[in-house]
Amino acid sequence: FHVDWDIVTAEKAGFDHFMLKEIHEQPKAYRDTMSSRISADGASVTLNELSMTVEEIRKISRVHIVACGTAFHAGMVGKYVIEKLARIPVETDVASEYRYRSPIITKDTLVIVVSQSGETADTLAALREAKRCGAKVLAITNVVGSSVAREADDLITTWAGPEIAVASTKAYTSQLIAFYLFGLHLAQTLGTQTADEIKEVITAMKALPEQVEAILAQADALKVVAEDMAKHDNLFFIGRGLDYAVALEGSLKLKEISYIHSEAYAAGELKHGTLALIEEDVPVIALATQHELLEKTVSNIKEVKARGANVLGIAVEGEEELQKSVDSTFIIPKTLDVLSPALAVVPLQLLSYYASLARGNDVDKPRNLAKSVTVE
Ligand code: G6P
Repeated sequence: FHVDWDIVTAEKAGFDHFMLKEIHEQPKAYRDTMSSRISADGASVTLNELSMTVEEIRKISRVHIVACGTAFHAGMVGKYVIEKLARIPVETDVASEYRYRSPIITKDTLVIVVSQSGETADTLAALREAKRCGAKVLAITNVVGSSVAREADDLITTWAGPEIAVASTKAYTSQLIAFYLFGLHLAQTLGTQTADEIKEVITAMKALPEQVEAILAQADALKVVAEDMAKHDNLFFIGRGLDYAVALEGSLKLKEISYIHSEAYAAGELKHGTLALIEEDVPVIALATQHELLEKTVSNIKEVKARGANVLGIAVEGEEELQKSVDSTFIIPKTLDVLSPALAVVPLQLLSYYASLARGNDVDKPRNLAKSVTVE
């Protein structure tokens, strides 16, 4: 009698790959990251772990978000979120650029470093540079006791649990939740949103885990699209505003594990050069989840359609208009525009996963990449 069992298979809990398991763990990661930080009446967030005082928050004149890779893309979302909710100017930068460009850091600058592992060399160096210049540093990390966690002045831990696959999924989305919580915390303190507005965001956040489950239940439809994508060598992601930030992450995910070349473009910028690359049958993934920008995005979709692109639209439930302009559509559940990245990225993660599978790649351990880069 022989039982074919090994520890790695057991850890995958029935999933073929860690990445797929981690994609499916996102509803739990969302719940774990937000539940203890939302008041029982759902009216406010309580980030008790933060030491920064009301006075210190009022003095913040600018925020710098610094990170690498996927965490940088979470920081791109963080920029929109903090500017929208708290009306403080935010710059997001990759750590390897930030640390060498003499950034203008004053005592009124809040530097937020984002790192799943908390050990990325460039991110840690940026943290140290920010502290040297007298800024307060807030870390968003998934590893309690990591270097970044220990050296920062303040810490918001993402409770995503260990992430094994090199391509980050649940850590990224938990970082988004951390930005929503922190953005709301700033808004509460500064009075930049009304009590009703804050409650509206919190109520919508609490619905996210179930909405992610609804997206995961449609994974088979994405598998079919991904198998077609896997036959191409080039493709494009387009979006405006928060959709652009998500497009960047979707494109990185695809490159990392499928090795298909892709570019993410702010949809309105396409016509200034990159449109020249759109020819017959080139796949374009158009994110159109931002209600206020929908009309503009649709006009960009028409530009690529007119040149023969094959467009997959990522749209929100109830937006029938978009479906007429694209070749196929994936519908995500309705949420507030500001929260849509936490849903819109999930189909992109699944597309990458299935495209990688279709190409016969090692999904969890892509070539040339490491989970944590602790050297320069
Ligand atoms: C590596 C990983 C990426 C990750 C980046 C930053 O390059 O392959 O998936 O996004 O490091 O890692 P961190 O742990 O700082 O979030």
